[in-house]
Amino acid sequence: MARLLITGGAGFIGSHTCLVLLNAGHDLIVLDNYSNSSPKALERVIELASLSLEKATLRLEVVQGDVRDEGILERLFLEGSQAGRPIEAVIHFAGLKAVAESFLKPTSYWSVNVCGSQALLSKMEAYGCKTIVFSSSATLYGAAKSSPIPETAPIRPVNPYGATKAAVEMMLADLAGCSGNDAPFQTSQNGWRIARLRYFNPVGAHPSGRIGEDPSGHPNNLFPILSQLAIKRRSSFKVFGSDWPTPDGTGVRDYIHVMDVAEGHTAALDALLTSGPQLITLNLGSGKGYSVLEVLKAFEKASGVTVNYELVDRRQGDVAITVADPQFAYRRLGWKPKLKLSDMCRDVWTWQSANPLGFHNEAA
Ligand code: UD1
Repeated sequence: MARLLITGGAGFIGSHTCLVLLNAGHDLIVLDNYSNSSPKALERVIELASLSLEKATLRLEVVQGDVRDEGILERLFLEGSQAGRPIEAVIHFAGLKAVAESFLKPTSYWSVNVCGSQALLSKMEAYGCKTIVFSSSATLYGAAKSSPIPETAPIRPVNPYGATKAAVEMMLADLAGCSGNDAPFQTSQNGWRIARLRYFNPVGAHPSGRIGEDPSGHPNNLFPILSQLAIKRRSSFKVFGSDWPTPDGTGVRDYIHVMDVAEGHTAALDALLTSGPQLITLNLGSGKGYSVLEVLKAFEKASGVTVNYELVDRRQGDVAITVADPQFAYRRLGWKPKLKLSDMCRDVWTWQSANPLGFHNEAA
């Protein structure tokens, strides 16, 4: 079992992945600045992993800090190697991720996402830690010409957030000595083991309802909006566009349960640690698309709440259909999403109804 650094480990996908990694026996250091997350998420991960206080101290070290802070990174890598427990691999979630905000604050996105990755990778290089799983996004395919989308589709980010993910992907390819080659599997000649995971639409929550998505401010994504509506934290739901070239006219997306995404990370890490130096690029999706109205119906069924909606104009920057071709990930990782849309709706509802204010619940 490995000692891992998890940047952004208190966030939505990070916290679920920490739980799966702890259950798989790995020891973790989480670095998070809580800019869009809560330390409570990690307290609940400890609870869900059934770790005693003593075990938790040994197996999950939590450090509050920014991934761009070279002093903190130096301390973490140095302490590990001095104690004879070096960081063997990194899972890098830390970053800003709101598309609309990225248009308003492009320099912040480049600073946190790109400079943060650069600081981390430099430190890894300095300490000879050459294994990393990186959170990338399907957003870098932009308006893909065909569907389902394979990893070899052109990279055409249409927003600053996507541009920063594309930039980090290029940095990783350069590091692995694989610049300019877009094959999903490439051998690295210089010892790096890198997985670039392109998430489609991760949703859902741990089935216990103890951890889940807790966006700060006003959410823009479908599931957080639907669940806030169902608990009456908001009153209206707008369907963005009913004239898309899809069966019912509403946008189609590839939703994937966050627990399946978390399992995808452990599978990618195992693949890297048990085979030779390589750069792999993998779509994490289900290969199935659901329209906004199909999601709405599934959510109503799971929650028992009727969602009133109005059909409005398309949202700027949206595309008709985004569905993954996940076959390469399935073959390479021996991993496949297990959970269905009904599970995603049930678990989001369990989480949101038990935690109407997310991790800010008084009673939590
Ligand atoms: C968005 C991001 C994408 C990011 C992904 C993470 C944009 C343009 N894209 O993708 O970069 O990787 O989240 O999950 O923000 N919808 C409504 N009404 C709403 C909200 C959404 O009809 O109030 C529709 C959208 O038009 C879309 C679908 O629901 O068809 C999913 O939307 P959303 O959850 O925001 O995800 P994406 O737009 O696919």
